[in-house]
Formats: sequence, C-alpha cells, structure tokens
Amino acid sequence: MSTATATTLTPFPLARHLATRGGRRTARRPCVRASAFHPEVSRAVESLQAEFREVDRALALNSSRVAAAFRHARVAPHHFGGSTGYGHDDAGGREALDSVFAHVVGAEAAIVRPQFFSGTHAIACALFALLRPGHELLAVAGPPYDTLEEVIGIRGSANVGSLKDFGVTYREVPPAEDGGLDWDALACAIRPETGCALIQRSCGYSWRKSLSVADIRRAIDLIKMQNPNCKVMVDNCYGEFVETSEPPMVGADLIAGSLIKNPGGTIAPCGGYVAGKKDLVEAAAARLSAPGLGVEFGSAPGHVMRALFQGLFLAPQMVGEAVKVGCLSVLASEEILHAVSTDSLVPSTGRFANCRGHVSQGI
Ligand SMILES: Cc1ncc(COP(=O)(O)O)c(C=O)c1O
Repeated sequence: MSTATATTLTPFPLARHLATRGGRRTARRPCVRASAFHPEVSRAVESLQAEFREVDRALALNSSRVAAAFRHARVAPHHFGGSTGYGHDDAGGREALDSVFAHVVGAEAAIVRPQFFSGTHAIACALFALLRPGHELLAVAGPPYDTLEEVIGIRGSANVGSLKDFGVTYREVPPAEDGGLDWDALACAIRPETGCALIQRSCGYSWRKSLSVADIRRAIDLIKMQNPNCKVMVDNCYGEFVETSEPPMVGADLIAGSLIKNPGGTIAPCGGYVAGKKDLVEAAAARLSAPGLGVEFGSAPGHVMRALFQGLFLAPQMVGEAVKVGCLSVLASEEILHAVSTDSLVPSTGRFANCRGHVSQGI
C-alpha cells in the first residue's frame, strides 16, 4: 500500500489522536484531510447524493407515519411489560402493537406476534386463511420464494399438510422478458377457481425485478377486474418502509412478513405479522393459534414487547440506511471491480431501485 493510500484511509479519530500526545497538543502539523473510506467508495458516496436525498425523504415520511401511529394507539410504558401463560395479563400491549402496525401499513387490522417463527410461517398462515379445497393459488410474479414451495406442496412435503394436501392447486405467471410482471398474461390469468393471487414484492434471490407499490396497485386492479372475489395476498418480506406506501393502501387483501427483517428494525428478537382486511386477519390468527383462540392469546415474556415496539419505531431509519448501503455497494463494486451487472435495476424508479427490493437481503 502506498503512503498516499494509507493517509487517505486514516479515519478522523485516528488523525486527531496522532496530533495529540499525552493530552497535550503537539506543534501544529500540516492538515491532511483524511477519509475513512476507500477513494472509490468516497467518489461513489459523492455521486449518490441525489439518491440519498430521495431515501431521506422517504425515511422522514415513514418515520412520521410510525410516530403518528404510536400516538394514535397511545403507546405507553405499561404496554412494554412481559406476560406469561395464555398472555391474558399483558396490559393491552398486544392490542396496541397490532393497532400501531395496522395504522402504519394502512390496513384494517394486524396481528404482530413473536409466535410467528419467520416470514415463511406468517405467509403460510395467510395463505391457509385465504384458500379452501378446490381453490387455485396463482403466483403472478413467477416462482415464489424457495421456502414456500413446501407450503404450496410443489417440493418434498407430501402428507405434512401442504396446500396441495388440502386440494389447493397451483399455477404461475412467469415474469416478462424484462424481469417485470407480464401484464398481457396477467390480464387474462385469473380463472373462476383462482381463490388467491400471490404477489411477491421483493425479488428474493431470483434475478427478476422487485415490484414497486405502483406495480402492485396495477396488478391488483387487473386481478380484481377479472374476478372481484379473488383475494390478493402480498409477500411483503423486505419490502416494508422501502417506499412511502404499503400494499394494503393500494387494495391488497392481506400482507405478511417477518420481524427479523425490515419492520423489526434490527431490534425485534423474533416474530412476524399478517395485516389486511379484519376478517382475513382473524382467519390467519386462527391458523397461527387455533380456531376460537384467534388474536386474544399468546404471551410475550420478558422484554420482548418492548423490543417489538422499539424495533418498529426504528425500522424506517434502519431500512433507509440499508437502502443507501445497497446503492453504495452496487456503485462502489462497479467502480472497484467493473464487474457488477446492473440488469436487475428497475428503470421506472431509478437506477438503484432494485436495491430497494432486496437490499436488506445482502446486509
Ligand atoms: C421475498 C421473501 N419472501 C419470503 C422469505 C422467507 O422468509 P423467512 O426466511 O423469514 O422464512 C424471504 C426470506 O428472505 C424473502 O426474501
């Protein structure tokens, strides 16, 4: 490493430390403006200022929506206490958290619980709430996330109670050549038996495009035009707070996701959520617990409730930072390696839009 490079990489605190010996300032040295970053990264940061401003704008709007939801539900310290057993002694914490979450995503109701193991578990509860024997599940954005294959029954889960075991069939609309939704195919894809259309917002690990909320709105309109009774369920994993609106605000019947991703704000130790129309959320709650138990049960011992509230409060900030780091990773990698494909970027929302869809996945 050349001396010049070593100087550039010296972080500010170290430079200050070198200029001060034994608590006494030494004779003034020539001031070299140091940066903590590799020069290519610093250049990338400079060139991303417009994108970063846009992320900050979304972050501010999302944070104020979350704060308003906390005020609306009158969240207070007694909601943070732990509960045990059936969870009947929780002083309203569960109800307040559900109400905050529903408010934030623009849904009638939500169930936010540490008892959801993961995103897959929450999505499975939502799908089982929506589908009945004889129904068809239609994935409108190509193959769903891998772990859902067993839930649907298209991979290795015979006789453990997959959707297929319960007589639900499955079909996919493959993505268009540009990686987006195939609008022409979707315009005539819904059949009378299609009980639920599944829209996966983030691309996951596949190379298709992540979907904007505007795309999701257009898809929901197309689906409901063909069959108003077909329910639309959005796998919202890694999508929360990436934009300033959420799928229930544009007509999704249910959404589901994980608290160990975006809405947990890096603080939630576990959990997931389902949100949307009230009767459907109740049906999903019955899958999580049991018919008749619904949303009224479920203890959260120790400090779990506090962590769930705190994580949700911080989530817009954490997601904003992750989106910035995603943009920066793409650009800096291009600068350094000249080898990163930008094919997966979504032109409609800017050159780094796909970072918004799956950024947290890589971080
Ligand atoms: C788009 C998408 N859906 C579903 C899942 C499944 O979530 P989990 O791993 O929490 O079960 C993931 C996980 O990364 C995902 O990215």
